[in-house]
Amino acid sequence: MDNINIFAPASVANVSCGFDVLGFCLDTIGDIMRVSKTKTKGISIGTLKGQKIPIDPLKNVAYVAANALLKDFPTNGGFQIDIEKKIKPGSGIGSSAASAAGAVFAINELLGKPYSRSQLVKFAMVGESLASGDAHADNLAPVLLGGFTLVRSNKTLDIIKLPSPNDLIATIIHPKIELKTIHSRAILKSEIPLTKAVEQWGNLGAFVSALYTNDYGLLSRSMKDKVIEPARAILIPKFKEIKESAIEAGALGSGISGSGPSVYALSKGEKTAKKVGQFMKTHYDEIGLDYEVHYSTINNEGIKIL
Ligand code: HSE
Repeated sequence: MDNINIFAPASVANVSCGFDVLGFCLDTIGDIMRVSKTKTKGISIGTLKGQKIPIDPLKNVAYVAANALLKDFPTNGGFQIDIEKKIKPGSGIGSSAASAAGAVFAINELLGKPYSRSQLVKFAMVGESLASGDAHADNLAPVLLGGFTLVRSNKTLDIIKLPSPNDLIATIIHPKIELKTIHSRAILKSEIPLTKAVEQWGNLGAFVSALYTNDYGLLSRSMKDKVIEPARAILIPKFKEIKESAIEAGALGSGISGSGPSVYALSKGEKTAKKVGQFMKTHYDEIGLDYEVHYSTINNEGIKIL
């Protein structure tokens, strides 16, 4: 095989109760990447279509991640990466994770799969760190492994793939403003009160349990964020109103998608998810802010070969 085309999906990190450790993979939005073997050694970036991303290799997350893999697995030839970027950078649905994970996944396939999908996370992390300032795998893990994932440790990359209840549908509203992860991380306090930590780990444990038992009620009660969301809410136009509308329309829960500005909701069933989207968008219609709404089942497979 000399080349490969893949779908590198978007993802939702944090899922309210699991800052930097919890995430899930989307099905209906993602980048198309083509990676081809070249005779020249090393990585080259070919055509970049769609959203604007850096052509400068040292600022391009796909290049940096791919390079990290090749350092560990030297080859005589090289690889060219072409990207049709559909996930807007700075939108909060894992744009950099899709590029980084996609690049290492595709190269690994062309090399005859020397690494497992889990082992690829560490190379993709090098690209992700470039985009967000420090390394966390809460978008990368669901993109590579599919479904919901929990990162027990971002240092040792101890990652657990979790089950996904069948009827869960995500609604994502993306207000068309750019919010860089590096900036929305900069406003966070580095310490939190013990009472808030207790609430947060109670919710995270319960959320994980609910995924295993298909307990939608428990899932709904656990989708709370007492730590990060209060600090970041001010960065997102009409966040409080949108979240309240999602719950009013029947969502199990709603919150900031990753580091924002997208807002996500999880619902049981497509009908409710669609109603949630209708309710959410009224707030941006009112103020004339451009937006996109996405609906998606949970993508249990992660990156797909086309
Ligand atoms: N957990 C990360 C954050 C996701 O919220 O900053 C975005 O990279």
